[in-house]
Amino acid sequence: MIRVLFVCLGNICRSPMAEAVFQHLVDEAGLSDQFHIDSAGTGDWHVGEMAHIGTRTVLRKHHIHYDGRARQFKSHDWSAFDYILAMDESNLRDIMRLKPSHAHAEAKLFLSYANADKATSVTEVPDPYYTGKYDQTYDLVLIGAKSLLASLRKKHGI
Ligand code: 4NP
Repeated sequence: MIRVLFVCLGNICRSPMAEAVFQHLVDEAGLSDQFHIDSAGTGDWHVGEMAHIGTRTVLRKHHIHYDGRARQFKSHDWSAFDYILAMDESNLRDIMRLKPSHAHAEAKLFLSYANADKATSVTEVPDPYYTGKYDQTYDLVLIGAKSLLASLRKKHGI
């Protein structure tokens, strides 16, 4: 089982979108039984809430199901997941601060895989919570999720 966690600030806009899109790609590829996929926020303000209406609307538009609820990233996530993918540098810093010394999960920027593929030169997923640009966020998340899946398939030989 390959365990993948997407992380943003509130866990209502970007990381739930990445979780849902990546799960969708994994399902389409027939690899659902090989992955455990989740998302979390570094902040606790929205714990228990549904994804933001902007994220839910854009996912519905693309026929992608999502009914997850927000939760906060905890240090035990470092041992519960193999890949921890942050939406921006600030999320990555906050995650690293909670890293136990024995943790060996890989924590990176989510878009680093797409950057390596030259699929985009954008390194962080801008927060649509402040801009309302959920469609642009979706486009970027889809590029990132495709590169991530291709990289993990290659690495794990699946
Ligand atoms: P997210 O967006 O990190 O993509 O879920 C945000 C959602 C809520 C807040 C900030 C960012 N907030 O400050 O409440």
